[in-house]
Amino acid sequence: MRLSGKVALVTGGSRGIGFTTAKILSENGATVVITAKDPKRLEKSTSEISNAIGIAADIRNRNDVKNVVNKTIEKFGRLDILVNNAGIFPKIKQLHEIDEDDWNEVLDVNLTGQFRFTKEAIPYLQKTAGCIINISSDAGLKAYQGFNADAYSASKAALILLTKCWALEYATNKIRVNCICPGVVDTDMTKPFLKTQKDKEFMDNEHPIGRIGQPEEVAKAVMYFASDDASWTTGAILAVDGGESIK
Ligand SMILES: NC(=O)c1ccc[n+]([C@@H]2O[C@H](COP(=O)([O-])OP(=O)(O)OC[C@H]3O[C@@H](n4cnc5c(N)ncnc54)[C@H](O)[C@@H]3O)[C@@H](O)[C@H]2O)c1
Repeated sequence: MRLSGKVALVTGGSRGIGFTTAKILSENGATVVITAKDPKRLEKSTSEISNAIGIAADIRNRNDVKNVVNKTIEKFGRLDILVNNAGIFPKIKQLHEIDEDDWNEVLDVNLTGQFRFTKEAIPYLQKTAGCIINISSDAGLKAYQGFNADAYSASKAALILLTKCWALEYATNKIRVNCICPGVVDTDMTKPFLKTQKDKEFMDNEHPIGRIGQPEEVAKAVMYFASDDASWTTGAILAVDGGESIK
């Protein structure tokens, strides 16, 4: 129970990596607030985790975001851990085919959304000497031929640099800020790319370790950064990707 007495907020926690992260944080003693866009799915997911409540919010709406943080403080009186996990993946298109509205939506959710939650959470994390874990992606570390998801790559690369900026900005407050870059993980987000046996084999082979990842493998890295085991670690960018980014 390494997180006993701590309160964690996980964005995009209704499914996939966020849901599994919320579960592991709760199993380690944290009280968890899960937030995501779809209230119905959020209710179902929250019911599967002990010591968790759900507060629906669209990360694109600053009032929704404020409401999540305010309600967390009203209910539990503190905030120790923020996991900036919510994200969307665009349709694969080359740059000259991307509609500007689609570009903006990806940046709004994957980048400005993380800014909104972090901005609201910082005053409370300052009080607890808390921590932030940003979920970026291998796509923010390097370019992949044929990947063609530029807005996504841009948002994830920016989050890597923001991790370092925030780590320096708030080090005097003892807030630790770290970042995880997953490779391809088996979630709803990647389902469209894993439809056939051939797709699966292709994706497995993209990872030197020979397979795609599972949400637990990312969630356990979040758990490390959230715990006192990482008490002297800030501004770190950890690839959890079966070696994909070092090819
Ligand atoms: N699955 C992968 O292969 C992979 C790889 C690298 C990075 N990531 C990143 O990990 C994170 C989680 O990915 P996942 O695969 O679990 O995705 P997912 O699609 O399964 O879940 C995404 C979550 O984000 C929430 N969300 C989306 N738009 C939102 C909005 N406007 N407002 C509030 N919540 C919103 C959804 O409700 C959901 O809970 C994302 O940031 C993703 O970019 C995933």
